Amino acid sequence: MSRALVTGGTSGIGRAVALALQAAGHEVMVTGRNAGALAELSARGMRTLSVDLGDLGALSAVLATALQDFAPDILVNNAGIVAPPGNFCDMAEADIHRSVATNLTQALIVTHAVAPGMRARGRGHIFFTGSIAGHTPYPNMAVYAATKAALGGFAQSLRLDLSPAMVRVTEIVAGRVESPLYKGILSDEARAAMYAGNTAVQPEDVAQMVLSVLALPAHVDVARFDILPTRQPVTPQVPAVEKPQ
Ligand SMILES: NC(=O)c1ccc[n+]([C@@H]2O[C@H](COP(=O)([O-])OP(=O)(O)OC[C@H]3O[C@@H](n4cnc5c(N)ncnc54)[C@H](OP(=O)(O)O)[C@@H]3O)[C@@H](O)[C@H]2O)c1
Repeated sequence: MSRALVTGGTSGIGRAVALALQAAGHEVMVTGRNAGALAELSARGMRTLSVDLGDLGALSAVLATALQDFAPDILVNNAGIVAPPGNFCDMAEADIHRSVATNLTQALIVTHAVAPGMRARGRGHIFFTGSIAGHTPYPNMAVYAATKAALGGFAQSLRLDLSPAMVRVTEIVAGRVESPLYKGILSDEARAAMYAGNTAVQPEDVAQMVLSVLALPAHVDVARFDILPTRQPVTPQVPAVEKPQ
């Protein structure tokens, strides 16, 4: 059995990946803030870490304590947010900082806490949940796109740093996945329209790919995989949030 740390494991893609890893026999630790979701996963036998990953000041110390007796062989850097979509000129500065901290900086700090141990042990696999938004232009999501593009660049270069130690790195380039990501940001109608026709990828589909990539022999590293709805257009539109005039 190996140990897996999944950030953003309380919901959507992360939860599906955590459940799949556990079902495959791994000991899993999930992070998140949602107390109810963490309690439910704890009842299923997972370790849980309640932490606001956007609180960068405390993060290293929290991780050092949590990982004292849990050295992950698998790290899934998955936690992320979307700020209310809209023209960059209208974006609140606080949302810029929150997006960069939650989608990018925390993933670097989490990786920095985990990767040296993998390098020393000569094995490990680090995943990043990136996005197609980091690889193709999107309207109304400029900062989200910037964070995901940066995450992708980091993943590809990190892979070269870690490959001599037989540590693999995989960027998950996800298209539209049906999850609570836009809950509380878009109206229920807008969300329903985004996922209409059962065309979106499901979180369990991403989890299945993660297991498949992990199952490859150690000498094979899938540097990135794109997982998209079969019927997703090249640049799917995310509607801007209506601003009160
Ligand atoms: N859904 C899509 O279409 C899509 C497409 C491409 C990429 N992605 C990426 O996939 C990843 C997972 O998103 P999802 O679609 O599964 O959405 P989700 O269901 O909303 O999951 C987001 C996860 O991130 C955690 N999280 C967010 N902010 C956090 C914070 N400040 N501190 C700690 N945990 C935090 C949440 O935990 P708590 O709520 O417990 O804090 C939750 O577990 C994200 O990185 C997202 O950008 C999604």
